[in-house]
Amino acid sequence: MEFSLYPRKSHLFRFHVLVVVGLLMSSVRGGGSEEYRAINCRKHSAVLTDFGAKGDGKTMNTKAFKSAIANLSQVAGDGGAQLIVPPGKWLTGSFNLTSHFTLFVHKDAVILGAQDEAAYPLIEILPSYGAGRDGGGRHASLIFGTNLTDVVITGGNGTIHGQGQYWWDKFRADKLKDTRPYLIEIMYSDQVQISNLILIDSPSWNVHPTYSSNVIIQWLTIIAPVGSPNTDGINPDSSKNVLIEDCFIVSGDDCIAVKSGWDQYGIKFGMPTEDLIIRRLTCISPDSAVIALGSEMSGGIKNVRAENITAIDSESGVRIKSGVGRGGYVKDIYARGMTMKTMKYVFWMTGDYGQHPDDGWDPKALPKIENINYRDMVAENVTYSARLDGISGDPFTGICISNVKIGLTEKPKKLQWNCTNVEGVSSQVTPPSCDLLHPSKKVFNCPFPEDKLPIEDVQMKICST
Ligand SMILES: *[C@@H]1O[C@H](CO)[C@@H](O)[C@H](O)[C@H]1NC(C)=O
Ligand SMILES: *[C@@H]1O[C@H](CO)[C@@H](O)[C@H](O)[C@H]1NC(C)=O
Ligand SMILES: *[C@@H]1O[C@H](CO)[C@@H](O)[C@H](O)[C@H]1NC(C)=O
Ligand SMILES: *[C@@H]1O[C@H](CO)[C@@H](O)[C@H](O)[C@H]1NC(C)=O
Ligand SMILES: *[C@@H]1O[C@H](CO)[C@@H](O)[C@H](O)[C@H]1NC(C)=O
Ligand SMILES: *[C@@H]1O[C@H](CO)[C@@H](O)[C@H](O)[C@H]1NC(C)=O
Ligand SMILES: *[C@@H]1O[C@H](CO)[C@@H](O)[C@H](O)[C@H]1NC(C)=O
Repeated sequence: MEFSLYPRKSHLFRFHVLVVVGLLMSSVRGGGSEEYRAINCRKHSAVLTDFGAKGDGKTMNTKAFKSAIANLSQVAGDGGAQLIVPPGKWLTGSFNLTSHFTLFVHKDAVILGAQDEAAYPLIEILPSYGAGRDGGGRHASLIFGTNLTDVVITGGNGTIHGQGQYWWDKFRADKLKDTRPYLIEIMYSDQVQISNLILIDSPSWNVHPTYSSNVIIQWLTIIAPVGSPNTDGINPDSSKNVLIEDCFIVSGDDCIAVKSGWDQYGIKFGMPTEDLIIRRLTCISPDSAVIALGSEMSGGIKNVRAENITAIDSESGVRIKSGVGRGGYVKDIYARGMTMKTMKYVFWMTGDYGQHPDDGWDPKALPKIENINYRDMVAENVTYSARLDGISGDPFTGICISNVKIGLTEKPKKLQWNCTNVEGVSSQVTPPSCDLLHPSKKVFNCPFPEDKLPIEDVQMKICST
């Protein structure tokens, strides 16, 4: 090529053209050297297009994802592999991950969930639930993994789009036989990382780590219409040693919903969610909670530490949801440093949450709710400061609330703190709390543990694509 218009600059210009073309080609192949942080880097690398994928938004790529991952699973024992999803729109049904594996979604890549029930095979019901959460059987999630060790789903903030409208419409019209797929579900796995992704319009829950340990979830942007059904952000379920940080979530249900199984099935399975950190979360959830504990908590929830949370236009801050039949426990819960604006409730505890998997639930299975600590919070434009309902004959105990300033809406409710069947203490709370939380002039700090959990010590490595 010769550009006579700028003869003296042509050399430089040609160099630029080459660099630009080179960058385009390498980024199209995904082979440019992008750096990312992960629990482990991989020895082997492949691009989705090596396996016949087409990023036109129309071609189904389920086969390509499956054969790529089957192929790369062969090197799991030899340093593992990363699969690059390059720029493009990659339509696919459900596929399964493998161990010692990284799925890397390029910033200009969109994984599109197929709008077709048959593209999400039916898999076993979760043993701790005993039933699909929407009833019927259970569709596999778009991205699914079970019995894995060391699995990473990350990217340069690439997108996973669930095209959920199809599912929401059918769900609302009662036209689905089986429980909707989630966007990402990882079961029975150890060393899991899900980070630097944009998740849009999940058919139902977005991220569901269950029966897993050592899980790091960070830098997720999760977006679903605020009216969409059950589009919870992140649901740590019967999992241990979990870190959730630096996430932004707008959703039609709870931003974070901590769970551990449902009624008699959860009690029998007996696997708690414990040692969970949630920090630097921003949440918008007009119809639900910023952080919900339950309602499925029958395997127990303990040692949850929430810190530096921002909530805007949400129904409640931290909410405990339980009821007769759940059994289990919610204990050793710590939250501090929450900033909230436009809230229906700042604090909400519900002791009569309904919904049972079937008629086999045990009316004698009462949940134990104890040692709940909230401190250092500011809220404005609030309708009700608190609604705290324990269970008659099974009070929620050891509640400690300190240093909380709540500013009210123009037309606040008269009864700001409505407490029944709860026991605890409070200090420096405005408007003043209820008598059941013995308001004290003595200043005390409700405890927040100073020790670190093992998941905070994981060293991330710098990897490249
Ligand atoms: C899959 O793996 C084998 C090694 O077992 C390799 O020879 C082959 O080229 C791979 N296939 C593709 C499409 O990359
Ligand atoms: C993924 O794994 C599950 C559990 O092993 C299995 O039931 C399902 O059929 C697999 N899905 C695909 C798409 O291979
Ligand atoms: C996964 O692990 C669980 C618990 O150890 C076991 O019950 C199940 O059979 C395993 N599933 C597969 C597909 O290996
Ligand atoms: C991804 O988004 C986060 C903010 O959510 C930003 O801090 C980070 O730099 C972005 N990473 C890339 C590779 O663009
Ligand atoms: C929480 O915010 C405070 C005040 O900005 C800061 O000092 C602290 O380091 C933050 N902690 C975490 C875990 O982000
Ligand atoms: C305050 O909250 C009400 C709902 O209770 C909302 O309509 C209004 O826009 C909020 N005001 C501000 C300034 O955010
Ligand atoms: C207070 O809570 C109780 C028990 O949940 C409820 O029945 C009652 O209607 C509430 N009172 C007000 C004034 O909101």
